[in-house]
Amino acid sequence: MSISNHYPVTPAERLSALRKVIDKNGFARVIEAHSGLSGIIAETVESEVDGSVVEYDAFWESSLTDSATKGLPDASIVGTESRLHTINEILHVTRKPMIVDGDTGGEIPNFEFLVTSLERMGVSSVIVEDKAYPKRNSLDNSASQSLEIPEKFAEKIRAGKQVTLSDDFLIVARLESLIAGTGVEDALQRAQMYLEAGVDGIMIHSNKRDPDDLFAFVEAYKSLCQKVGRSPILVSVPTTYNQYSEKDLVKSGFNVIIHANQLLRASHKAMKEVAAQILEDGRSYDADSQVSPVKEIFQAVGFDRITEADRARVRSLRIPVIVPAAGKDPIFSDRPKSMIKVGGKRVLDFQLEAVTKAGLKRMLIVRGHEGAQFNQSYGNNENITFRDNPEFGENGLLHSLMCASEDMGDGFLLMYSDILLEHEILSRLAYSGKDIVLAVDSTYKYHTHEVDKLLDLVVTKKAFSPGLRSLRRSPLTEIVRIGKQVPLDTADSEFIGVAYFSEDGAKALQQMYFDLVKQQKGEFHESPLFESASFTDMIQELSDRGFPIHGLEVHQGWREIHTHEDVRLAETEAAEFDLIATPQS
Ligand code: SPV
Ligand code: MG
Repeated sequence: MSISNHYPVTPAERLSALRKVIDKNGFARVIEAHSGLSGIIAETVESEVDGSVVEYDAFWESSLTDSATKGLPDASIVGTESRLHTINEILHVTRKPMIVDGDTGGEIPNFEFLVTSLERMGVSSVIVEDKAYPKRNSLDNSASQSLEIPEKFAEKIRAGKQVTLSDDFLIVARLESLIAGTGVEDALQRAQMYLEAGVDGIMIHSNKRDPDDLFAFVEAYKSLCQKVGRSPILVSVPTTYNQYSEKDLVKSGFNVIIHANQLLRASHKAMKEVAAQILEDGRSYDADSQVSPVKEIFQAVGFDRITEADRARVRSLRIPVIVPAAGKDPIFSDRPKSMIKVGGKRVLDFQLEAVTKAGLKRMLIVRGHEGAQFNQSYGNNENITFRDNPEFGENGLLHSLMCASEDMGDGFLLMYSDILLEHEILSRLAYSGKDIVLAVDSTYKYHTHEVDKLLDLVVTKKAFSPGLRSLRRSPLTEIVRIGKQVPLDTADSEFIGVAYFSEDGAKALQQMYFDLVKQQKGEFHESPLFESASFTDMIQELSDRGFPIHGLEVHQGWREIHTHEDVRLAETEAAEFDLIATPQS
């Protein structure tokens, strides 16, 4: 899985997974990886064999393919730091276990550094070969191969075992006797010494097509294990003798089968062919069938998840801010509340500013009482659209809101028509990540309440603690009760008249509302009739029916306009903060 497909695994879990898979299945099927992308392929590829799905159990981080990827020969040239970089690159985007090709391991301190680094990163095993440094790749028959003194190599194993922290980290000794031409007997003597030094496994390597000597070693190894009283795992790298299947090799006694270089060789061949084809044709059209579609690469590395998140963000900015402004206010009865002036500006001017600053594009005003007053000032405003509630005299705010139900498809923000607010409140709601979120303020407890208006109070599952100063913003919490009849002493917060509905939240609201329109007769929560229901009655209904409603705590940055005194206070504040700019004419 790519980083953006983030598939969590701790280094310790990954490390122990190799031993677990060998214990469970008797063997592990391993494929080479030399880069993040090849790691993603190795991790995710599956095939159906005899009715069941098979996949690789682990990766082989090969010195040959890591070096070749860098355009370098496999001859102790690419250093440990660079190898660790490639290893980390693969680990970063995968979760399966990894076996690392440790070459000769270098001197004891070099090997200790390698072992501790790999174990800390979550690698499961290192295979270290008993050749003398600097080594030559084992597959070239013409290369001169010299072996390490076995006692010296055994000492290196001992040192490596001493610095490991977990029994699950496997140090495997790789015998190169059959490569160097010193024969099966030499390999067996060395194997015994390495087993006595504490290795967790043996890899017997061959570069022959028909390695009789290798199979002779495997048979003798079984007796050797009996002699030393334990059976460390046996590893095969069947590059040259690949006519033998995994099944054959497991049957003969191997526990780990490593396909050590095929992905690198496959990409090398494909790259050469495609590069030549493009040269030949003078265009890449004819090579299309030989290359993966870009889309597939995007998908493999998780780019599609990033673009999906981008699209969701753009969608979220396109959601409308719906302002039900149809009702007649008993105090400001000559105008819709949106048209109340604070200083030289109307409440709607302030709201429009906040909406634009939040990056949102659309306001939807539901008109009713004195609705025509909107036309002169806002009729040509491209950010404002109008919907009408012709029955505003008979019904309540919920029904005004639902007059805009056709605009709710992608989700929406609700804003009461009498609230002045900072744009951050809108942004925080839109990015809250929940389906229905109400902005709530717990500081109402510290205000005196002239009983000019009953507050929409809220009871949450877990109370906010506004008294505790904290760097962290309050987390979202679930609302269980809302309404004007919630007793002051049991409430945690006050609903401020701004709420967010995601696409799913809006869908739930619409479904429930239109069900209720058909069925609901009489009392509805705090309203004597469903027709006069407020928004908070509907929230209570959604909550009662099991739809989670969240509260987002805001302590400042908003003010509602209920009275002339509110207007005066808002004017003082607005002047102080230089908020009164040119109003719409
Ligand atoms: C590698 O893959 O780097 C190996 C195996 O060490 S081999 O190339 O066969 O030596
Ligand atoms: Mg190697």
